[in-house]
Amino acid sequence: MRLKALFVIFSLRLPICMATPVPPCNMAPLTSADIAIIAPDSISCTEAAYPAECATATHAAPYINLAFTTFSIHDFGTQASLLALILYESGSFKYNINHYPGVPGQGTRNMQNPAFNLKYAQWLAANMTDSGISVQQVEKAEAEGVVQVLALVNNDRWGFASAAWFLVTQCDGEIRRGLAGLTEEGWNAYLTDCVGTTVTDERTAIWKDATASGKW
Ligand SMILES: *[C@@H]1O[C@H](CO)[C@@H](O)[C@H](O)[C@H]1NC(C)=O
Repeated sequence: MRLKALFVIFSLRLPICMATPVPPCNMAPLTSADIAIIAPDSISCTEAAYPAECATATHAAPYINLAFTTFSIHDFGTQASLLALILYESGSFKYNINHYPGVPGQGTRNMQNPAFNLKYAQWLAANMTDSGISVQQVEKAEAEGVVQVLALVNNDRWGFASAAWFLVTQCDGEIRRGLAGLTEEGWNAYLTDCVGTTVTDERTAIWKDATASGKW
């Protein structure tokens, strides 16, 4: 019985891991404690300016792990970089809508632009039959406006997964190898050449904190 149980565990995990043999798969799931070490203010929502948008580390962790699985993000360097990006862009998960300055339709945990939120919704409707988003819903939301398009993807399941989707569908192999390689040059290239933002001390600091342990 023991052996059989062991086999079941391995058979569940191995196929996931074999998808990316180099660099090695990070077998440890991200925990709320890991997030809290990187972003201590993520443990609570009591001070949140927009409480409805706030998620604690405890609430966020399972959705982030699910996003890694959904988009086959198995190596630690890429996982940590995506976590750093969403922690930064959402103010430690306090926001999922852009308030500063307040661009309509911009949001999710990586504060995606409206154009990418539409692409994301279309991609989910077309490619993920269990996404809960239909082609008809996307077309209706698109006709209504960018705020309605954002609302389609701005739930826990997809709002925490948008950074992973963006990396997988919008960034090239060189960018992905840079993140997996855990180099600051790789992080900088990801920000400037794919995300389309600037390297700042604040962004680099959170990436350093997220990658410091070398594993969760
Ligand atoms: C579905 O996924 C494929 C492969 O990633 C992509 O080329 C295609 O554009 C996606 N469909 C939509 C509607 O985004």
